[in-house]
Order: sequence, then structure tokens, then C-alpha cells
Amino acid sequence: MSAKGRVFLLDDDQLIVSMLARALKKEGYEVQAETDSREVVEKIRSTAPDVALLDIRLPGKSGIDILQELTDQGIHTQVVMLTSDDTAETAVKAMKLGAVDYLTKPFDLDEVKIVIKGIVEKGNLMREVDYLRKVSSEILHQEIIGESAILLELMAKARKMATARVPTILLTGESGTGKELFSRYIHHAMHREDSYGQFPFIGVNCAALPEHLIESELFGHEKGSFTDAKADKRGIFEMAYGGSILLDEIGEMKQNLQSKLLRVIEERKVRRIGGRVDIPIGVTVFATTNRDIEEAVDTGEFRMDLFYRLNAFSLRIPPLRERRKDIPLLARYFLTHYSGKYNRKTLKGFSPEAEELLLSYRWPGNIRELRNTIERIVVLENEETILPDHLPKEILHQARAEKQTTRFDFILPDSGLSLEEVEKDLILQALEKAGNNKTLAAKLLNISYDSLRYQVKKFGLE
Ligand SMILES: Nc1ncnc2c1ncn2[C@@H]1O[C@H](COP(=O)(O)OP(=O)(O)OP(=O)(O)O)[C@@H](O)[C@H]1O
Ligand SMILES: [Mg+2]
Repeated sequence: MSAKGRVFLLDDDQLIVSMLARALKKEGYEVQAETDSREVVEKIRSTAPDVALLDIRLPGKSGIDILQELTDQGIHTQVVMLTSDDTAETAVKAMKLGAVDYLTKPFDLDEVKIVIKGIVEKGNLMREVDYLRKVSSEILHQEIIGESAILLELMAKARKMATARVPTILLTGESGTGKELFSRYIHHAMHREDSYGQFPFIGVNCAALPEHLIESELFGHEKGSFTDAKADKRGIFEMAYGGSILLDEIGEMKQNLQSKLLRVIEERKVRRIGGRVDIPIGVTVFATTNRDIEEAVDTGEFRMDLFYRLNAFSLRIPPLRERRKDIPLLARYFLTHYSGKYNRKTLKGFSPEAEELLLSYRWPGNIRELRNTIERIVVLENEETILPDHLPKEILHQARAEKQTTRFDFILPDSGLSLEEVEKDLILQALEKAGNNKTLAAKLLNISYDSLRYQVKKFGLE
């Protein structure tokens, strides 16, 4: 017999844990019981239980902290708080933070069973929608790390959009640059003042599903509107009311659906498939693309009117190689994060050579690639300092390949040229490559730091 549902249980009191676990197992639930709050967010993330029962009072982290972390990380497990009388006030706070219910000690086992049954049944109804939904769980939290001027400007622009509560935002940029992270950042900024409410952030990947499924996913359907429509279903425009939706890879959306989406965005109303009433929508729409959507507009694959509508407010998230200044900071941030997560406190940092390799690598997978690279090193290496040898082969290969192609073929045009202009241009390129780090730029040009500084001054490149 398959389990009725999965319950995660955390209480530092072994007695309570075993009593609840026994009672729930008897009811047919699969129970994972814990008495230690360490890594509990990770455990909940990886086991995705239907319900998590969390004790409020724990040594170390409180149940409230855990709930906050789950919310911040976009983990949507239903949480029930376990409280003692003296923490009733905290229970109220927990409800405001999004806990679905709370149970007061000493427990009435019947009440516990009823509460859990209700949540699991409701969850089963939602599941139909959930399995289609792709809300990435890879975002560590809403914090955006970086110190490059480009990134800081982008964040300022994002905050302005949040303050103005613009209705649609288009985010473009290569894979792994942080489009979803920025969307969540804006969403978070929009709802910060009233952060006690629950504001959904729901994502759909437009490339991952057949057209008709995306349509009913977005707009919902009425029972009987097509063969598989066995019950009424709310679409994400309805479900995200008051919050945001993320349309991932909008460039892949089919024409027919593009027209429907445009109508919904313009009229701020949605009608379920087979439905008769228009339902007002109140959501911020984030749309992302990592392909050149303007080209798709030119070729006629993407509707120009929808493009203009979405593009009214847009953010281009530059690839990491255009903001190399962020690399050391991000690398150290991920190093700290993962050495904490994997309990590798011996890791101290990067050797200058390793850092330089990280700085000059192209990072085609952008921040995601950097993050994964550091995570792998933290897991696999035991040294105090990360050396070039610990870096993945691609990074070493690229560095070597670049060393061998120092000579390049430059053909002097018949009309001649200005050597000064060429020099200036190369210096600019080097600075950009080096993320404005002059030491590194000088190395790229094989000149001294001082002569680079002199040239920069001479050409007015400060
Ligand atoms: N500036 C940043 N600071 C910290 N983490 C970041 C930053 N930018 C991106 N990340 C992290 O990198 C990973 C990839 O980011 P995200 O999912 O937002 O990229 P994306 O642009 O949506 O990629 P894709 O196009 O592949 O969906 C995530 O784990 C995210 O948290
Ligand atoms: Mg994404």
C-alpha cells in the first residue's frame, strides 16, 4: 500500500517525536522524524513532504527561523507549528509568516490527525498543477551578490521597478546569469512592507510543456472543456493573485498562445478555457529569455506587439565575463556558503594563481557554473587553500589555450590606421576583460602596471 502522504516531524523532545510518529504511521502516513534542527531546510527540500510539523522552541534555530528560510528559498511545504502555551504569540507570528496551522502541546491526537488529513487532501488537489510547475529551487536566497558597477546599477534599476510596481518585466541574459534571482529580488522588494502576508511567486517554463498544457496551466480550465479536463482548474494567473508569475523562456511560446497572453496582460483579465466569466488578475509578470528575442521578432516568430508590451520595462543581465569584478566576491561567497553546508571549515580561500584563473575564465554557464564549480571543490578537496590543480579541466585548458595564442594576425589596411587608436582600443578591451582590474589588464597586455596606468591616463580612459 502506498503511503497516504508524507509527514516531516521536527521536535527536540524525543518523546513527542516518537508519540506523533507512531500515531501518524498508524494512520498510513510515511513519517520522517528528526530531533535535530541542523540542515532541516535541506532535508525538507530534498524529501518534499506534504506537511512539515515544526516545533517552535528548539535549541539553536527556532521553528520560526526555519519557516522563514523555507519561504525565502521558495520551498512550498505546508508547515504546521508545534507550540507550548507560552509561545502562543509566536504561533500567531508563524501563521502570519505562512504556516498553515498550529497545534498546542499537550496534543489531542485526534486534532493532529484531522489537521494533517485536511492539509494532505488539499495538497493532492494542488498536485496536478504542481507537477507541471517549474519553480526553480536552486536559488539560495534573494540576496544578489556583486560589486561591479554594472550589477549595482542593475539592482538600483530593479528596485525602481519594484517601487513603481510595474506590471511586466522582461529579463534577458544568458543561462545562469540570474534572471530568476532578479525576478525574485523584485518580487520580494515589492512585497517587503507587507511581508507578513503570503504573496505567491509561481513559475512556468514555456519551453517544457506542449502548447495546450501551458494554456490551461496559465489560464486554467473549466470541467469538461476538453477531454482531460476532469475538474475545474485555476490557472497560475488566478493562483498568483497579489503576487508574481515567472514565464521562463518566453521566446519559445507558440504564436497562438502569445496572442492570448497579450490579451490577458493588456486587459488585466483572464478567462479559463471553456469559461464564461472574466477574472481580474493582479500579478506582476516576469518573462525571461536567453535567446535573442528581437531576432525572433524580426523573423516573425515572436509577436512584435507582445514584445513591445513586455519590453516596456526590461533588464539585461550581463554575462559574468562582462563583470569580472564580481567573480572573486561570488567565489568567496559560494565558498563560505558551501563550506558551511558541507561542514568543511578547513577551507580558507583561493591561492592568487587560482583566483586569477577564475578571473580570466569565460564562464559560459555564468554564475550557475561558478557556483557548481565551487560546490564541487568544497565537496571533493580537503586542502586549506584552493590551488589551480583543484579547478576543473575546462578552466585550466582555456587558460593554457590562451597562453598559446598570444600572437594574432593583424592585417594593416591599405588605407593605413592610427596606431594610437589600436592601442587605445586594445587597452579598453583588456580593461573590460579584466573587469577594470588594472593589475590583471596589464598582465593581459604583458606590460607593467605603471605603464598601463600611464596609458589609461594618456587616453583619458579613467
Ligand atoms: N548575483 C548573484 N549572487 C548570488 N547568486 C547568484 C547571482 N546570480 C545568480 N546567482 C545564482 O546562480 C544560479 C542561477 O541563477 P538563475 O536561476 O537566476 O539564472 P537564470 O538566468 O534564470 O538561468 P536560466 O536561463 O538557465 O534559467 C542560482 O543559484 C542563483 O541563486
Ligand atoms: Mg531561470
